[in-house]
Amino acid sequence: MNSKIWLSSPHMGGKEQDFIKEAFDTNWVAPLGPNVAGFENDLESFLGENVQIAVLSSGTAALHLALIQLGVNAGDEVICQSFTFSASANPIVYLGAIPIFIDSEPETWNMCPVALEEAIKDRISKGKTPKAIIPVHLYGMPAKMDEILSVAGKYNIPVLEDSAESLGSTYKGKACGTFGKFAALSFNGNKIITTSGGGALVCKTKAEKDKTVFLATQARDNAPHYQHSEIGYNYRLSNISAGIGRGQMIVLSSHIKSRQKMHDFYVDYFKNIKGVEVFNEPNSDFSSNHWLSCILIDQSVVGKNREDLRLALEKENIESRPLWKPMHLQPIFEKYPYYGGNVCEKLFENGLCLPSGSNLSEQDKNRILEVFDRFF
Ligand SMILES: Cc1ncc(COP(=O)(O)O)c(C=O)c1O
Repeated sequence: MNSKIWLSSPHMGGKEQDFIKEAFDTNWVAPLGPNVAGFENDLESFLGENVQIAVLSSGTAALHLALIQLGVNAGDEVICQSFTFSASANPIVYLGAIPIFIDSEPETWNMCPVALEEAIKDRISKGKTPKAIIPVHLYGMPAKMDEILSVAGKYNIPVLEDSAESLGSTYKGKACGTFGKFAALSFNGNKIITTSGGGALVCKTKAEKDKTVFLATQARDNAPHYQHSEIGYNYRLSNISAGIGRGQMIVLSSHIKSRQKMHDFYVDYFKNIKGVEVFNEPNSDFSSNHWLSCILIDQSVVGKNREDLRLALEKENIESRPLWKPMHLQPIFEKYPYYGGNVCEKLFENGLCLPSGSNLSEQDKNRILEVFDRFF
């Protein structure tokens, strides 16, 4: 059997272990230390825009701490893109708040600004102004931030960007993760860079960063003994994981180029295949890191569907995956309100994520092409 081709696997640059060794040599084997501060500095320089970053144990933790700082309490409503991974919505429920799900628009597959405004108006008419809006830059594709920020501003609702999949993507030249009041990044094992597990909260002020670190380290008051006036969390990134992050920052730009090249590889192949559409930037305002390359298959043209292709790839030990199943269709979330049409439902029905790693070899690509040639 050929070795497995993964959808998106960790890709080390080579310097990661040097940072880890230094942590061991200096005994900074703790959830603080020079790698934590160093990784935060690297991320702040990469994103620009004078952001302040707190690195955390996961992207989910980042979303959770952002919602707390936005004042979300039990019974509050929080608007969230339906077409996403469940981690975008779970922290809303951790707080006892109510997710309000919004459909996507067909160009970026992200939050539809029209459905967003419709939802806000309706929720206000029912007596509650949503406490936050969570758009997602899915698969690295920037959401329509001008439109979303304009609606959010009109009703004075803060935006929390879920930028877990979009490190290195830009909208109108500005980095994804710098548009909202807060943004969450993820360094999970499948992301464009990984710390094996980890995340970060992008803040706008030093006070917000300090508050994030305070909450992430058990909310200790300033006292010689342990004293607590708030509920805390154990969410800080370790100095070992942050060492991996520092090594990964050295290769981030080349990883982005490789992912974009994988996308070009699929664009090139499918330009001659009728009934298959590769997910692309709508225009030059959008630059995706192409974390995952995705296609839509029109069964009425191809005669086979995305599951047929997934199984054909799987037979050759090649991983692919249906697009995210929308949250409003998930058993755990289906009881919550949903606004919009069937855009994301159709994407889920017809879409497939293809192997997209920055470490795929020419031989891997040839194996993928062989399956495609037989299939189409
Ligand atoms: C869109 C989205 N949001 C949130 C997360 C959560 O990040 P993490 O796995 O680091 O908790 C992920 C990735 O896992 C994601 O893809």
